[in-house]
Parts: sequence; C-alpha cells; structure tokens
Amino acid sequence: MQYKDLDKKTLKGLLDAEYKIFNSYKNLGLSYDMTRGKPCRIQLDLSNELENQKYLKGFSSISDQEVRNYGVLDGIPEAKKLMAEMLGVGTEEIVVGGNSSLNLMYDLLVRFMLFGTGTEGCRPWVKEEKLKWICLVPGYDRHFLITEKLGFELIAVPLQGDGPDMDMVEELVKDPCVKGIWMIPKYSNPTGEVFSDEKIRRLAAMETGAKDFRIMCDDAYTVHFLREAPAKQLNMLEACKEAGNPDRVFLFCSTSKITFPGSGISAVGASEKNIKYLLSCLTVQTICYDKVNQLRHARFLKDYDGIIAHMKKHAEILLPKFEAVNNILAKELGGLGILKWTKPDGGYFISIDTLPGCASAVVAKAKECGVKFTPAGATFPYRQDPNDSNIRIAPTLPPIQELEAAINILCVCVKICSMEKLLENCEE
Ligand SMILES: Cc1ncc(COP(=O)(O)O)c(C=O)c1O
Repeated sequence: MQYKDLDKKTLKGLLDAEYKIFNSYKNLGLSYDMTRGKPCRIQLDLSNELENQKYLKGFSSISDQEVRNYGVLDGIPEAKKLMAEMLGVGTEEIVVGGNSSLNLMYDLLVRFMLFGTGTEGCRPWVKEEKLKWICLVPGYDRHFLITEKLGFELIAVPLQGDGPDMDMVEELVKDPCVKGIWMIPKYSNPTGEVFSDEKIRRLAAMETGAKDFRIMCDDAYTVHFLREAPAKQLNMLEACKEAGNPDRVFLFCSTSKITFPGSGISAVGASEKNIKYLLSCLTVQTICYDKVNQLRHARFLKDYDGIIAHMKKHAEILLPKFEAVNNILAKELGGLGILKWTKPDGGYFISIDTLPGCASAVVAKAKECGVKFTPAGATFPYRQDPNDSNIRIAPTLPPIQELEAAINILCVCVKICSMEKLLENCEE
C-alpha cells in the first residue's frame, strides 16, 4: 500500500490514528538527543587502557626522541607509521597532528587563502576575485561551514550511492574559480556510501580550470566498518599520482572515533612536495604537536592490524544499533513510498529522505515529542536542502532502547507529515 495511491478519506482516517499515537508519545515527557555522531559510553570504554602508564614508559620514541619536550614537528616515527598505514600513504607522505583532523583541514584552507597552495604561478586564494567550492550532498555540515566562512560560493553536487555525479563535477571544475571539493570517500557522512574506484580515478584525472585545484579528502571513516572488514578502495593519493596530478589531494584521518574524540591524534597525508610545503608553513605556527599522546596511541593501537582488531569491537557494539534502525524503518514504513533510507556497511550515520517538503516538519514534530534530530538542511550548503527531504540519523550514542523509541517516534512523524503533504496536494 503506497500512501500516494490512497484516497483522501482513507488518508484522513490513517492520519487521525497516527495523531493518537503521536499524542501518546508527546505525553511521555521524553528527552532524547539524536543530533550528533558520537561514540557511546561502552565504545569509549574500549580505550580506557590508554590511561595505563605502561604506554608512556620511557617517554621516548623508537628513534629515541624525547616525547616530553619540544620538537619533531611531523610526528614521532611510530605514530607516523600507524597513521600512514591507516591513510594508505608512505611515511614521507604524512604529518601527524593534534587532537582534531577538522582542525588540520581548517588550518590548511586558511593557509591556502593567505599564502596559496605552493603551486607555481598561482596566487594566495584571498587575492582571487571569486572563489567557488564543490560540496557533495548530502554531506558533513562542518566541512561546508569552513568553506562558507572563508568566503567560497558553495556549489552542491549530488552523491549517487557510489560517489559524486562525476559528469557534473567534471563540468564545474572547468571554471578556474572552482578551487576544490570536499569528499568523504568511504562510509561517507551521512549516506554511508563508498566511492567507486572508477569515480576516484575520474576525480584524480579530471581537467581543472584552476591549476591549484585541491581535493580535501576526509577519510574520517576509513576503518569504521560494521561487518567483516573495511571496504577495499582505490587510494585517492595513489590515483592522483597515477593520473599525473600528485599534488591535487590532501587526505585526513584521526583516531577520534577509534579511541577518544577530542583526545586522539590526527594526520594529514599528501605528496612529498605538498608535505614539504605544509611543514614550511607549520613550522611558523607551532613547535610540535602533542607527542605524548602520539606515543600512547601508537603503543596502544600498535599497527593497522591492531586498529582493525579494535574497530571490530566497535562494530560489535554498533551493528545491532544500525540494524535496529533499519528493522524499525522497514517494519513501520517499508512499502509506503514515503521514505528512502541508506543501509551502510560502515561509518556513523544513516541518511533518510522523506517526500519533498517534509523533512523540516518531521524534525519539528519529533521535537514536540522530546526527540531532537539534526536540523533538516544541515547536510546541505547554507543549511538549505532544496527538496527539504534529507535528515541525518546518528544511531551510535543512545542506548538501544532509547534509539528504538526515538526511531519509532520518527516513523510516526514521517507518516503524519507525509500524509499531511499528500492531503495538501489533493486539495490543490
Ligand atoms: C567526516 C568527518 N570528518 C571529521 C570529523 C571530526 O574529526 P576530528 O575529531 O578528527 O576533528 C567528523 C566528526 O564527526 C566527521 O564526521
């Protein structure tokens, strides 16, 4: 039974019935926060070992560098090796940073604005009259905010389940004002999609009007699988090298959702030329990052296999939550033709699409029942979803009973808002 096929009278009857359920939820006085993708308490507990003093024993790196003191701007060797394995780059192609990869991204773009990218014949971006940036949608609000704040005109390009609409990207980048693109290649936030190798190759090889075009490749979820193992994927830096554009991309990751968000370590990977340029700027900005934390993380996580073993424990906690969301959506809304949702194999989010024009109403309705979802529109540049249909679901933080209750409430709100929209259209 698709709602769109129902007559007005049947819809009105169903709507009354859903409002009864809605009102009973409303009277429960709930207060659930589903807004941000944070690990839950038991996920954090997986890394409590980090407090063990044995991970800091000797306070020195494998190359005898003193971690308690200033120095070693690019990171201690064991942390570089660990993060290089995670990003799939060489140890000469990485800088290990502080507690936030988002901070590395912000700083890098500010440097490009003030000092340029280091590309011969190109000016600092701030000197350009017009700056444009491609934002894949739905996407990560904090990416969009950085480029919005720096004065770029943001251009939305849809994701298609296996990466961006590449025909559209290839057309847009002919414009020399388009300086770059944000991307989350694996388990993208919020769709959970994995970019295909073919699209990665096209991003690496496309002709760009700007000589200093840059791909900000945020591999935040590269090891955040939910089932057996992380998806295999062509490395973006590898692809850029193969295409003869080695300096096009910067890769980012962190241990935020591996150990402790806000208290982990981050990394940026790029061609040796780009890393050299980055270090020449960084040396003016800081003497070094937190090497004590780098040592602790490198010894705790050990190597890529150690990270994967640790992430398997996260997956065991998270998979039941993702499945619970999927099962409730399928049971309550399957076949009604009013909601599409993603079924990711990794990452932190499920992305849902309501009928056009319903997402803000759904979020507002859920709020009336005490359930807060990420504001509709947040996944689009300027917080404007032209279809008003996308909502990001973050299943990781709440305990499962709370999550199930929140999603059941969401389903009632989706039914109500869809029926109201369909009735509105009947009346026209
Ligand atoms: C795609 C993406 N990148 C970056 C971050 C933040 O990373 P960090 O804690 O390393 O700054 C998040 C956090 O939710 C994210 O979803």
